[in-house]
Amino acid sequence: MSDNGASPVVVGISGASGSVMARGVIERLLEMGRPVVATASPAARMVWRDEMDESFGDALERWGDSGLFTHYAIGDMTAPIASGTFSVASMAVVPCSMATIAAIAVGLSDNLLRRAADVCIKERRRLVLVPRDTPLNAIHLENMANLSRLGATILPPAPAFYLKPQSVSDIVDFMVERTLYALGETEALPDAMRYKGSHDAGS
Ligand SMILES: Cc1cc2nc3c(=O)[nH]c(=O)nc-3n(C[C@H](O)[C@H](O)[C@H](O)COP(=O)(O)O)c2cc1C
Repeated sequence: MSDNGASPVVVGISGASGSVMARGVIERLLEMGRPVVATASPAARMVWRDEMDESFGDALERWGDSGLFTHYAIGDMTAPIASGTFSVASMAVVPCSMATIAAIAVGLSDNLLRRAADVCIKERRRLVLVPRDTPLNAIHLENMANLSRLGATILPPAPAFYLKPQSVSDIVDFMVERTLYALGETEALPDAMRYKGSHDAGS
């Protein structure tokens, strides 16, 4: 439980491309007043350096100002999220590398992110994985199929072309909303992000 009594959402950031999606999910949750617990792998920090204008350290500081944000080092197995006895609402791994997909699929809890995901599976809590790689090989696909059978939501960053996105930021915003919806944090997608069909109103 966080200071305000609500169970936090865990956000794991692994070393796949797409750091901007991690930032989007964390910031949207904080804007909604939801407590967030995050951990990031060393590879995630490497990718962040490549892809983002703001350093990861500065982002952690900024999120910390919300009073709703807690960060644990990836090697800190004493963090509360390593135990099923600590109440969390759900967890997203965004972006999720194929290495982390593989580790979670076989129960290899060798860092805090992977352990927290393993806990979500054993406690039957919502786990949303945003895998990013292309193309996918049979190992990736089999790991994801196993995770889906275990109850995880596999949410690839797939643009909603039918919404005619005009920018990368449109696509990222859509993925962020999709992730929040899959986590059960929102009851519906924003109206502008819903497919309305191709029929005229009333017909
Ligand atoms: C700039 C950069 C981009 C990467 N992009 C991806 C990616 O999109 N998908 C992926 O599965 N791995 C990607 N990798 C490789 C992973 O970072 C690597 O497999 C790492 O071991 C993952 O560790 P982690 O899952 O603990 O974060 C990338 C690495 C770098 C340096």
